[in-house]
Amino acid sequence: TKDWNGIDQVVLRNPKGASARISLHGGQVCSWRNEQGEELLFTSSKAIFKAPKAMRGGIPICFPQFGSCGSPEQHGFVKNKIWTIDENPPPLCSNDIDACSFVDLLYRSSEEDLKFWPYSFELRLRVSLLPCGDLVLRSRVRNVNGKPFGFSFAYHTHLVVSDISEVRIEGLETLDFLDNLCQKERFTEQGDAITFESEVDRVYVSTPNAIAVLDHERKRTYVIRKEGLPDVVVWNPWEKKSKAMVDFGDEEYKQMLCVNGAALESPIMLRPGEEWTGKLQLTVVPSSFSLDL
Ligand code: BG6
Repeated sequence: TKDWNGIDQVVLRNPKGASARISLHGGQVCSWRNEQGEELLFTSSKAIFKAPKAMRGGIPICFPQFGSCGSPEQHGFVKNKIWTIDENPPPLCSNDIDACSFVDLLYRSSEEDLKFWPYSFELRLRVSLLPCGDLVLRSRVRNVNGKPFGFSFAYHTHLVVSDISEVRIEGLETLDFLDNLCQKERFTEQGDAITFESEVDRVYVSTPNAIAVLDHERKRTYVIRKEGLPDVVVWNPWEKKSKAMVDFGDEEYKQMLCVNGAALESPIMLRPGEEWTGKLQLTVVPSSFSLDL
């Protein structure tokens, strides 16, 4: 199928009817649906579907930086580029062996990209839909350059929630976080689970490999498992910021929450020829399931 700019999209399906849709525009996962056909990733009703920018929603890939970090390309430039499909992907690794459906997308830096970032790299994104309906994103960054580089990375994951005031995150309590609303000042989380009653924009550092987002009203829980991604960004713009964003509905903050597996606090360093892998696995289960995180 084609995306909003007539660019190819890949649709993955599993035998039970779960699906995922990925655009070659940025390698952005735009949709992930469960067996009942319910959409699990948020897309704004005001999203702007116009190249070259990524639309607001789904899972934009943020590389080589998250935020602006002095670069004009907020959250990195690869999300605004056209990727290709690797028709001859390497074999699945043992952890992915049960993937029934997957696609490998590639982005190789070009001469033109050197103006954004003066290094050459290859970024491979494997998106898999497992028989159980889980969505797995595995990114591999390779330094194909003559000089070492450091980068940050994030899966900017927009989850659908039924009512943000009824949502809580488990797994981040007692951790340190950098608060983007206070010049990145460092605080320590004091409470139990994290709940929402105002704008939140935080980077939790050195987080466990599994965290849970509990949607009390819809009686379902997202489990986010990750490897190679020590940090977690939690973002909800709340009322005022929502009104200030042109591509976001005034009330939509109630129905979405960004929980981004990321490598931010310490840049990942790669020497020429070296590779890094960061994996995210999203699961959704009824709240009645007992979780063993
Ligand atoms: C979040 C960041 O994840 O993304 C926020 O932590 C930022 O600081 C938000 O405002 C949205 O960013 P953008 O560039 O997509 O508007």
